[in-house]
Amino acid sequence: MKYYIKTFGCQMNERDSEKVEGILFKNNHQRVDNPEEADLIIVNSCAVREKAENKLYSEIGRLRFKNKRAKIVAMGCVAQINYERLKNIADIVVGTNTIDMFYSIAREWPHDKVFIKPNMEDPDHIFPHLTSVSAYVDIMYGCDNFCTYCIVPFTRGREVSRKKEAIIDEIKRLVDKGTKEVMLLGQNVNSYGKNFDYGFVDLLYEVNKIDGLERIRFTTSHPKDFSKELIYAMRDLEKVCEHIHLPIQSGSNKILKLMKRKYTKEEYLEKVYLYKEIVKDGSITTDIIVGFPQETEKDFEETLKILEEVRYDTSFSFKYSKRPFTKAKDMDGQVPEEEKLRRLNILQDLQAKITQEKLKNYEGKVTEVLIEGISKKGNQFFGRNRQNIVVNLDFMDNIKVGDVVRVEITKALKHSLLGKPI
Ligand code: 5AD
Ligand code: SF4
Repeated sequence: MKYYIKTFGCQMNERDSEKVEGILFKNNHQRVDNPEEADLIIVNSCAVREKAENKLYSEIGRLRFKNKRAKIVAMGCVAQINYERLKNIADIVVGTNTIDMFYSIAREWPHDKVFIKPNMEDPDHIFPHLTSVSAYVDIMYGCDNFCTYCIVPFTRGREVSRKKEAIIDEIKRLVDKGTKEVMLLGQNVNSYGKNFDYGFVDLLYEVNKIDGLERIRFTTSHPKDFSKELIYAMRDLEKVCEHIHLPIQSGSNKILKLMKRKYTKEEYLEKVYLYKEIVKDGSITTDIIVGFPQETEKDFEETLKILEEVRYDTSFSFKYSKRPFTKAKDMDGQVPEEEKLRRLNILQDLQAKITQEKLKNYEGKVTEVLIEGISKKGNQFFGRNRQNIVVNLDFMDNIKVGDVVRVEITKALKHSLLGKPI
């Protein structure tokens, strides 16, 4: 069978799609890049904002039009919450906690149409991977935080951690097949192991011992649980990269409270300062929502101030989007769409300036790059440095994909760096 797969959304979704591909690959099915050639079309959906959700419906319509013969599977976050609508336009609907269904789909077309479970029931199952230098590894599923804007607790269910042994086993298998870097994934990795007698820092210590593994990354850290202990572990464990993604969402304490984020701006900044002091050359990125209900111009300016104060390497910013099931959708003081857009543009302009200044600082300096692949044009290698910044470099005979090389940065581009190996 030939399959085509399209993925929307975050790294968890990317990993879920990879699980599906791994299963299909093991059953001798082939991936095609042109949907018209496919017998099976899979669309992995994102529900975090309304726009992302709508993309799924239009994508299914577009693909059906292009290829009337193929069977279509709708999977992911929208599938989990809106299967009633999807079962009319897709042939099968697979939720976020039933990826194992693909073991059957790979062999025989199932009789039932909808496969949904509210929570992840077998978190320790090790799904296949495709071969890669840098690999995603789930360490937990779901989220129990219920931030008032966020649909994730409804699309991914209750928080459950995978046992240390399953994670270590999975990483060792990856390393045997050439993986050099792992990105440990969870909605809130700092609350890893809530029901175990070990936590996230213990897990990092264990993963750090794996021979042949070069780098460890993790995402996402919730600021309320981002601990001193983790900051010191980042300093002490040589494989853990010097980068944190610490979503602040807003710089106004009033808005943070309405969002139910459970930290204040001051508490957040205190952690950032400690991180900057302890972790040498540490980079920091964040997520921001503008136009949350009741956000005034003054609240928004407080967010801008945080940007200036922290000087994030990058930030991912979004206009607030009303989501089903969430508390914020019914709050008073919804901000008009044009105003959200105005604030978003101001914020993104400021961030672009800061990003550019930070990238410029690298010019003339040497940075350590893990080579992940060959650029689309085919004339350069690309990889990332420990701070998670993309670096492109010219070919050299003695360098290959998977190597860690020292690179002198020659030029800062808009979102990445250019350099030559030394
Ligand atoms: N509207 C806009 N952005 C959102 N995010 C989550 N929910 C919403 C929403 N309803 C953003 C947050 C989160 C990121 C993954 O998506 O910033 O950190
Ligand atoms: Fe959503 Fe908050 Fe959970 Fe992140 S921590 S997934 S923003 S509810």
